[in-house]
Amino acid sequence: MAQDYMWYQGIPFPSEVYTPESIKAAQELVLKDEDIITVTYPKSGTNWMIEILCLIHSKGDPEWIRSVPIWDRSPWMETEGGFQTIKDRKEAPPLISSHLPIQLFPKSFFTSKAKVIYVIRNPKDVLVSGYYYSAGAKFLKNPQSLQQYYDWFIEGSVRFGSWFAHVQGWMSMRERENVLVLSYEELKKDTRSTVEKICQFLGKKLNPEELELVLENSSFQAMKKNTMSNFSLLSGDYVSPGFLVTRKGITGDWKNHFTVAQAEVFEKIFQEKMAGLPVELFLWD
Ligand code: A3P
Repeated sequence: MAQDYMWYQGIPFPSEVYTPESIKAAQELVLKDEDIITVTYPKSGTNWMIEILCLIHSKGDPEWIRSVPIWDRSPWMETEGGFQTIKDRKEAPPLISSHLPIQLFPKSFFTSKAKVIYVIRNPKDVLVSGYYYSAGAKFLKNPQSLQQYYDWFIEGSVRFGSWFAHVQGWMSMRERENVLVLSYEELKKDTRSTVEKICQFLGKKLNPEELELVLENSSFQAMKKNTMSNFSLLSGDYVSPGFLVTRKGITGDWKNHFTVAQAEVFEKIFQEKMAGLPVELFLWD
């Protein structure tokens, strides 16, 4: 079942999950100063970041992440169900998730102190990860080959549109005090320091044992085993058997998939589209 997309202001959204009303509602969402929002282009390590934030919140105690599905711990503002949960919450931890590009993000953000953590990832790995995800998710257009998905990715006809535009847009926010930009690669290379950086940004303090528990319980192996986090709870109506969000969890997997020609063309396009942004932001190869 390959789904067609619903286009909203030039951005494709899987129509089984999003409606024009749900996107509009997200734009009108009134954020609170204490909100902590994980924002990413899909397949950049969103769920890993959410798991880390949940564990920072519980001071490393895994009880919450092992008993509540990840999408209920940090609801998605642009889905109908997620939006409602966010609106109705009273005592719930202030964690929210979003893949929205900056131009569709809640207007209230621009005058609030709500904090955004934007995770970027080597787009070549995002592409490979997205290819496998799209092949197994019934609510997405299923590519026939990596080359086909590569073409869709470059032209931005994948969910949430162009990676290049998404990242360009969010990078324009990077100097704001309430925005922290992190890369999947730095999180992978030095998880401990990056989690400390996140705590500092959030004004949270963890003692050494708590930090240890956060690291242990958010590791790839731990997440892969956690049925509340690995997407094994998704119904067979939505995904193929065996589908998990925790696929490989490594950096540089693109090297196992791209041809030399694909890598060269990608590099050229990257240079053209990301010109003007400091190269230090993109230290992944
Ligand atoms: P791969 O498909 O390359 O393995 P998102 O959450 O934005 O959909 O991103 C999914 C990607 O993050 C997948 O990449 C997944 O394996 C990886 N991931 C999920 N949990 C992780 C973890 N704890 N450590 C490292 N990578 C993780």
